[in-house]
Amino acid sequence: MSGLHDCCIIDLPKITDPRGNLSFIEGAQHIPFEIRRVYYLYDIPGGETRGGHAHKELQQLIVAMSGSFDVILDDGYNKKTFSLNRSYYGLYLTNMVWREIVNFSTGAVCMVLASEHYDESDYFRDYREFRNAVKEWHI
Ligand code: TYD
Repeated sequence: MSGLHDCCIIDLPKITDPRGNLSFIEGAQHIPFEIRRVYYLYDIPGGETRGGHAHKELQQLIVAMSGSFDVILDDGYNKKTFSLNRSYYGLYLTNMVWREIVNFSTGAVCMVLASEHYDESDYFRDYREFRNAVKEWHI
């Protein structure tokens, strides 16, 4: 069982250079999992919200590759908002955390590194179902 207290901003390596900066992420080195999938959100219309789900097992790292957005996390008991606006910060998300991604700036690109391949059966897409599962696991 995981929760909000395990979610955190990871300061990624940054090689500053007059030619432009460079950051990198190695699975199980800079983040606590091996990377099995990468996906990204882009061309997001103003005012749109993404996410709106939790995962039973999946771990993820969210990076604002360009622009900015806010990630609202909720472990069924507490909520916390993280603002991402630098491509050298990654937000680490454990399993069993509901997330909403909001306030996308124009041109924002949200990259997500995931610990597993896509599997719809790993999702909670209904908030009440998620809350009930959290409560059961806390008994
Ligand atoms: P969805 O979970 O709604 O995106 P988000 O949580 O970022 O708002 O996913 C949208 C669609 O894309 C949905 O039909 C599932 C599909 N999808 C994949 O096929 N592979 C993936 O790796 C992801 C993340 C989504």
